[in-house]
Amino acid sequence: MSKDPYTLAGEAAAALRAAAGLDLSDAAFDVAFVMGSGWVPAADAIGETVREIPFTDLPGFRAPAVAGHGGKIRVVRTAAGRHALIFLGRTHLYESPSGLGVDAVVHGVRTAAAAGVRTLVLTNAAGGLRPETQNVGDPVLISDHINLTGANPITGTTFIDLTEVYSRRLRALVREIDPTLAEGVYVAFRGPTYETPAEIRMLRTLGGDMIGMSTVLEAIAAREANLDVLGISLVTNPGAGLSGEPLNHEEVLEVGRATAARMGVLLAKVVDRL
Ligand code: HPA
Repeated sequence: MSKDPYTLAGEAAAALRAAAGLDLSDAAFDVAFVMGSGWVPAADAIGETVREIPFTDLPGFRAPAVAGHGGKIRVVRTAAGRHALIFLGRTHLYESPSGLGVDAVVHGVRTAAAAGVRTLVLTNAAGGLRPETQNVGDPVLISDHINLTGANPITGTTFIDLTEVYSRRLRALVREIDPTLAEGVYVAFRGPTYETPAEIRMLRTLGGDMIGMSTVLEAIAAREANLDVLGISLVTNPGAGLSGEPLNHEEVLEVGRATAARMGVLLAKVVDRL
């Protein structure tokens, strides 16, 4: 990326505000959601759509490469009259052969921060590493992460504290809404292959509870920008080798469709309490 990624995010935020067509001179957007695979159908419950802006209309964004991952930013007005940005789809590290690399993965988060967002909700689909206690279709609050992507969005001597990446306050707030929600440690691999059974056994030993290919780099970029982060995984399958069944992307999307109503109700309740 030839231009400084923070400058590019500032330009995208300006274009986003203009395209949103709202009078947001003071409050800007309150909250942003990144909808991972399986979560896009739940977006409808968050509020009334004001505008939809294709990623490709904004500087620095690319259309997502993955079927089922959307490709637009939706501007939404919630029941309480607040404004939310919903990223329908995201860029993954495994999509970045063209040199944009990790900056492309976190561009949406940096753009949201530059547009005034203070709270970021990151959602994803994940393999469950604890089938003893997790069911397919369960949402799990991310309490912490293990970044095994080999990448980091921060360069140079910027030493960001990651003691509490996923806000304790926000997790407690969501558990007030749904006390049945479990918490877990999300592990990220680069992908795009799913894991081997040996890797899944390793991750269980390391203390992971969910495995996926997203979220951690965005969460780090969000903490650099001082955003409060809430992370929620939808367990779409047991990790490889834990069920005897092979894994496939269609199954991940299907679980999202089947649970969209429950996820939507949860997000709608969360949004006006953030
Ligand atoms: N592994 C990695 N990413 C995933 C999985 C998985 O089992 N399920 C959904 N996303």
